Amino acid sequence: MSLPPGFLDELRTRLSLSDVVGRKVMWDMRKSNQAKGDMWAPCPFHQEKTASFHVDDRKGFYYCFGCHAKGDAISFVRETENVEFFEAVRILAGEAGMPMPERDPQAQEKADRRAQLTEVMEQAVRYFGLQLRAGAGTAARDYLRRRGLSGETLTQFDIGFAPDGWQGLWDHLTGKGVVPEMILACGLARESERGGRPYDVFRNRIMFPIRDARGRCVAFGGRAMDPNDNAKYLNSPETEIFDKSRTLYNLAPAREAAGKGAPLIVAEGYMDVIALVAAGFGAAVAPLGTAVTEDQLQLLWRIADEPVIMLDGDRAGLGAAYRVIDLALPLLEAGRTLRFALMPEGKDPDDLLRAEGPGAVQARIDAALPLVRLLWQRETEGRDFATPERKAALERTCRDKAALIRDPSLRGYYERELKDLRWQLFNPRRQAAQAPRGRGPRGKWSPPETARAETRNSVLASGDPAQAVRLREAVILATLISCPDVAEMFEAEIERMPCRDPDHAALRAAILHHAGAGEKTLRAQIAAEIGDETLEKLMALPHVALAPPVRHPGDAERATLTLREEFAKLAAGAGVEAELREAVEDIDGLADETLTWRVAQAAEARNRAQRSVEEDRTVYDLGENGLRLDREEREAFARLLGQLDRPKPGH
Ligand code: UTP
Ligand code: MN
Repeated sequence: MSLPPGFLDELRTRLSLSDVVGRKVMWDMRKSNQAKGDMWAPCPFHQEKTASFHVDDRKGFYYCFGCHAKGDAISFVRETENVEFFEAVRILAGEAGMPMPERDPQAQEKADRRAQLTEVMEQAVRYFGLQLRAGAGTAARDYLRRRGLSGETLTQFDIGFAPDGWQGLWDHLTGKGVVPEMILACGLARESERGGRPYDVFRNRIMFPIRDARGRCVAFGGRAMDPNDNAKYLNSPETEIFDKSRTLYNLAPAREAAGKGAPLIVAEGYMDVIALVAAGFGAAVAPLGTAVTEDQLQLLWRIADEPVIMLDGDRAGLGAAYRVIDLALPLLEAGRTLRFALMPEGKDPDDLLRAEGPGAVQARIDAALPLVRLLWQRETEGRDFATPERKAALERTCRDKAALIRDPSLRGYYERELKDLRWQLFNPRRQAAQAPRGRGPRGKWSPPETARAETRNSVLASGDPAQAVRLREAVILATLISCPDVAEMFEAEIERMPCRDPDHAALRAAILHHAGAGEKTLRAQIAAEIGDETLEKLMALPHVALAPPVRHPGDAERATLTLREEFAKLAAGAGVEAELREAVEDIDGLADETLTWRVAQAAEARNRAQRSVEEDRTVYDLGENGLRLDREEREAFARLLGQLDRPKPGH
């Protein structure tokens, strides 16, 4: 969808930035001057007690003198609500009373109907909430208290109670003038077969409102109060507004919390989500009584690159995790995967929190298994591979599973990792002899703990080639923005960059389009098309900020030097990766672990050679006046270059 010209300007003039910001901060009224639109508050983007966050209401801009966050109303909503540009515009347009540009009339009608139905659902939320607080809700209140839910949590999740009766909600809603057809369409009541009055779907149940991505109630989950009820949980039927497979419990608040850095967790049940959020894990969601679907995975990946699947510590939980693996494999991409946190035997996250507290859950998140490891566990657990036939069968399974991955580069890494694991399994003694400190002959068989300790230091040390590529791209893009004059010279290389990161792809497009018009125009275009924040974020990356061409904008010579070097390294990296993959694939047909091992050794030797050459050239100096990295980082980077062929467990 595109916005008509002038729409954003109109929106900005109609809005008061201090109103928008005012919902998230406490103004320092002594420092502020309301009449002049000059407002101060403690910054919402970093921890502080003093008021260094300044809003210029007349200009519509904010700036923090502490953390240098800056922007306008749209970027403020994007940052604080963790939403996309259009969603931020939609939220603000709603507040400013500006209709969003018309979509086709049918879509409009559908949207109106949806709004009406969700409004009926909200009325039901209020009714159930009142019932929980009324006399009829005494037993439910006691139950919830026994389960450790505070009053605050009940309010936060709008938890309610549907009393035991056949027409309580029906009478309430019709009494308020709601059309019966709407109540039925919401799935709140069902037509009686005997032709009597329709009856309530939810009776004698604790009610959990289920909300869509925009926070509107689209369904309910109801937990039976009666332990003999034949359904412990009853969920709303699918309706015009409720598509089970595209909804996740607690999605909107989780997105906001994930935007602030909370790990995105997928639990099994409503009560798990509620307990997790109450314990400080704000970005917890759950599917709605069904297995996780592809749509739900896509929703999750829009929020975080590595959601943590946290399932109950029983056979059913493990089975569910195993099913998620097969669902996820074809959808995985470089940098986009899942991790699995397993709960102790017989416990769900809620149980674990109550038994051992948030620390225990955090520990499980920290130790979460990468997808490839759980896959391996599934294929090997409790089996023995003493015969050649079984070994070959395992090899075939591994190959078939890896073949499900569509992303070719990632598929290569999976094949490699599964091969390493097989080698380890089939040659236990040889590994032990060659790997006295838990390091395999290829140096990468250390347990996840070690891997994690290594990655903590810096991005460069992460050993993740995708990350290295992203970093080089960032330097290249920033250089081009600082000195667009040289862009023409490198046009082919610019077009060839992978740009997996959507921000990078957008910046590249803007550069290719507007570089000819000079730095000022280019920056203005980027601000208009992509947003100031993206540019700010790019320029603030430490490696970018220190790069000579960025520190000396307009210096064509420095820019050319840097670009030449960075493009060459990008190309070299891609080359090594492809070559090795090919070599391993060739050998693959022979199915001989020893041969594979020899290829790896050869590659290792070559990498070592390359590494020392790189070290002589001080690796990443970007020219003599360039960026100085400390020794540790330089070595890390050298290691990184030597690791393009070695997937890392953990991470
Ligand atoms: P659980 O039985 O693990 O529920 O089902 P829970 O969340 O731990 O609930 P408590 O702690 O006993 O109150 C997990 C999820 O499976 C769905 C619900 O979505 C539930 O949250 N479910 C379970 C159903 O849809 N129907 C059922 O009968 C049971
Ligand atoms: Mn439970």
